[in-house]
Amino acid sequence: MGQRKLTARIVLHRFRGRRAESLVQIALGESAKRVHASAPVKTNTRESDYVLGTHDDEVARLGLQHRIWRSVVTDCWHRAGITHGWRVLDVGAGPGYATADLAEIVGPSGAVLGIERSARFLEAARERCARRGLTNVELREGDLMEVSLGNLGYDASWCRWVASFVSSPKKLVENIAGALRPGGVAIFHEYSDYETFRYMPVKPALESFMVEVMQSWRAAGGEPNIARELPQLLSDAGFRVTEIVPRVRTVSQRDYTWQWPKAFIQINIARLQELGRATPEWRADVLREFAEVEADAGAWFTTPMFLEIVARKE
Ligand SMILES: C[S@@+](CC[C@H](N)C(=O)[O-])C[C@H]1O[C@@H](n2cnc3c(N)ncnc32)[C@H](O)[C@@H]1O
Repeated sequence: MGQRKLTARIVLHRFRGRRAESLVQIALGESAKRVHASAPVKTNTRESDYVLGTHDDEVARLGLQHRIWRSVVTDCWHRAGITHGWRVLDVGAGPGYATADLAEIVGPSGAVLGIERSARFLEAARERCARRGLTNVELREGDLMEVSLGNLGYDASWCRWVASFVSSPKKLVENIAGALRPGGVAIFHEYSDYETFRYMPVKPALESFMVEVMQSWRAAGGEPNIARELPQLLSDAGFRVTEIVPRVRTVSQRDYTWQWPKAFIQINIARLQELGRATPEWRADVLREFAEVEADAGAWFTTPMFLEIVARKE
């Protein structure tokens, strides 16, 4: 589908302490539309073709994932300069866990714009922001492969675990580049070495689960280890990469991080079966081996490694 040109219209918006008229309505075309804070979301994107699914269990899992990595994330935002009054894009915002945290950091004089393809996730994000009393968040339904964000002049963008799932990471990076002001900062948390997803002692079905997850993302048109391509794509799009930090942990079951693969295995094994990629026998093997490592006080897990990438628009 061809890329749609977006036009920015103005709605009331706060910026850097001044009440200002600014860009907040983007006409996203028929396949994507703005989500108003109070309006019910009418689904017009396909929920079923997203490889990880958009059901309630996945919403809850993304919350767990956010809590597990939250300290790393907020430290990264802090070092990248995100502060009061900034206008920040949450690219592929999902159910809005990071969106809400960003909105609290930038405060009422700043703004957060979340772009997300799934109407179900947007609905969850809208409810979260309303519960937290946030009035500086705008959530828009849009497919980043089909629409251009336009020249928004934003201060920063946050993009976590999205680039692995898009058909063109180049288009994603160019879209972000177009939306930031010169000097604006683009921040990514994306996998670079998914194969580090490993249990000790080694369990064959759990190893094959990791391989199958990667294959399922590739079969859906994505690339698990997409972070390896981002520095070049960012440079080509006019960014200077200022920092790349590998993020990986090796944990025992006493560590909260252990809950991350636990939730992922339990939820994704069902999704893989739904997608026709898992037999009941293999599913049973994976869950049996996971029960074994859970029962083993000497077992350890290494997380799939991702890169924290910070880049400035020249
Ligand atoms: C693993 S989730 C991460 C969500 C969120 N960034 C977070 O960290 O919790 C990946 C998200 O990317 C969204 N996504 C994937 N492809 C997209 C696209 N082409 N346009 C917009 N969102 C997309 C999915 O709908 C999903 O919400």
